[in-house]
Amino acid sequence: MNEKVHVVNHPLLSHKLTILRDKNTSTKDFRELVSEIGMLLTYEATRDLPLTTKEIETPICKMEAPTLKGKKFAVVPILRAGLGLVDGVLRMVPSARVGHLGMYRNEETMEPVQYFCKMPRDVAERDVLIVDPMLATGGSASAAIDIMKGYGCQNIKLMVLVAAPQGIEVIQSKHPDVDIYCGAVDEGLNEASYIVPGLGDAGDRIFGTK
Ligand code: PRP
Ligand code: URA
Repeated sequence: MNEKVHVVNHPLLSHKLTILRDKNTSTKDFRELVSEIGMLLTYEATRDLPLTTKEIETPICKMEAPTLKGKKFAVVPILRAGLGLVDGVLRMVPSARVGHLGMYRNEETMEPVQYFCKMPRDVAERDVLIVDPMLATGGSASAAIDIMKGYGCQNIKLMVLVAAPQGIEVIQSKHPDVDIYCGAVDEGLNEASYIVPGLGDAGDRIFGTK
């Protein structure tokens, strides 16, 4: 791991992540927590957004006050589970555009299979934040980054709730330019390539499909 991996250490995030991991957490609570943690991670992932200033008048006097420069931004969830994070990102960056990337892991080969893609027309000019709760083998996230680079995107970040060291390694070797933001780095993967201890199947837990 190097300086491109940002493990966001905050007591609120750690607390929420523990509830998320608990197998007894309900679908409703799980969904709400994914969104809340998404918001907290976005806070870190947008730390380098450029600022400018504008003149405003407070009730006391005029001032040159900081304001976002309005750089174009897009959030790209990897479906399905990434959808759970979109709302949290949009609450922090309401003007962001959303690109959807449908992808699932083939359960035998663990290779990502793409089934949908719809991007904002000008996505190449935007800073892109790819979101997915889980970075396991890294196959899905790495393919997603390839696709966004294929569109011409130059500033790409990846935001996940839980990462396995194997997934981080894959992103770092294939895409060393991409910053990774995560809530935790876990021990590893089990024989079915699920993150250990992880939180189980994120998509199934968000949408209640199991
Ligand atoms: C999960 C997860 C990631 C991927 C991570 O999606 O949301 O997209 O697996 O695994 P990887 O790093 O080994 O590629 P899944 O394939 O279960 O699809 P879903 O979101 O539709 O449930
Ligand atoms: N996908 C998930 O939803 N969970 C894991 O632990 C690994 C891949």
